[in-house]
Amino acid sequence: MKIFLDTANLAEIKETASLGLLDGVTTNPSLVAREKKPFKELLLEICAIVNGPVSAEVVSLDLEGMLKEARKLHKLNPNIVCKIPMTGDGLKAVKILEQEGARCNVTLVFSPLQALLAARVGASFVSPFIGRLDDIGQRGMELIEQLMLIWENYNFETEIIVASVRNPIHVVEAAMTGAHIVTVPFKVLEQFTKHPLTDLGIERFAADWKKAGIEFNL
Ligand code: E4P
Repeated sequence: MKIFLDTANLAEIKETASLGLLDGVTTNPSLVAREKKPFKELLLEICAIVNGPVSAEVVSLDLEGMLKEARKLHKLNPNIVCKIPMTGDGLKAVKILEQEGARCNVTLVFSPLQALLAARVGASFVSPFIGRLDDIGQRGMELIEQLMLIWENYNFETEIIVASVRNPIHVVEAAMTGAHIVTVPFKVLEQFTKHPLTDLGIERFAADWKKAGIEFNL
């Protein structure tokens, strides 16, 4: 399973890249707004760090506006994936852009049929939002399970990005479904490495070593 970082924060992206764990980045207008940097400058800096797809979202909602913005994004850097909202005009835009060679990520997907449509118009990626479904009392992971089954039936090339991830359990469950990609906030990624028994184990080994007075002489 590929790991993307769901952020527009350069420090978080650099840290994850240095761990050798960064397969891509997803941003959205809310994440970009937090960074207080000109959009173009921010995207170019992200692309300079990430050796993989960087999703950047259009903000227009009409077909012409989406196409105009997405073409500019595509021209900026070949790693940029145009993030397009799941609407009728969005689907039309995806079909045109993918034919032109611009990769698209259909975002704000909450149902199997929305995902199916994104795959049918040839989107490179589709982003089902599981945390936001959990928030309204619907089990988000069920959507991923349904999609993996549908994908098996039809061999779609569209990669499923499990999005709106809120905790490590989401990531484990996503991996168990065989989902292609998970995009995680930095806070959640940091939790992956941590376990209280690991910390305790390190402390005990160090204490025993010190008590015995052994030198690390090889
Ligand atoms: C995905 O591409 C989105 O940026 C993101 O996962 C949204 O997550 P949220 O529901 O935590 O805002």
